[in-house]
Amino acid sequence: MKLLRWAAALGLAGTLGTVWAAGPPDLNLARNLAATCANCHGTDGRSVAGSGSAGLAGTDKDTLMQKLRDFRSGARPATIMHQISRGYTEAQLELIAAYFAARK
Ligand code: HEC
Repeated sequence: MKLLRWAAALGLAGTLGTVWAAGPPDLNLARNLAATCANCHGTDGRSVAGSGSAGLAGTDKDTLMQKLRDFRSGARPATIMHQISRGYTEAQLELIAAYFAARK
């Protein structure tokens, strides 16, 4: 069941070539990478009420990727996310975005 949700979140086409090239996504790696966002965005992307940080859980994967790409390119000005988003490869961001998209 969990795998099915992952498959749905990851989709089966498009930009996934980078992630799927080495085989199915490593779910532990995805979780560990996503955990690096927890300090500010809450455990599993569920932000603490009143913290002022955006929750990431349950956000559509493509939406998350677009926001992260905009931070990376500088299209969206930020205080910190422009630096954080540049610390990950595209494939790592895909894993992170898929992980949060699969959280409800
Ligand atoms: C040190 C705190 C911190 C960490 C760690 C952090 N973020 Fe952020 N995040 C922010 C802040 C602050 C903003 C608001 C934009 C800005 O000023 O940088 C933000 C905004 C965002 C947004 C846009 C939210 C929206 O809907 O407008 C996304 C998406 C996001 N972060 C994803 C991530 C992901 C994915 C990670 C982990 C790889 C992460 N963040 C790690 C602080 C953090």
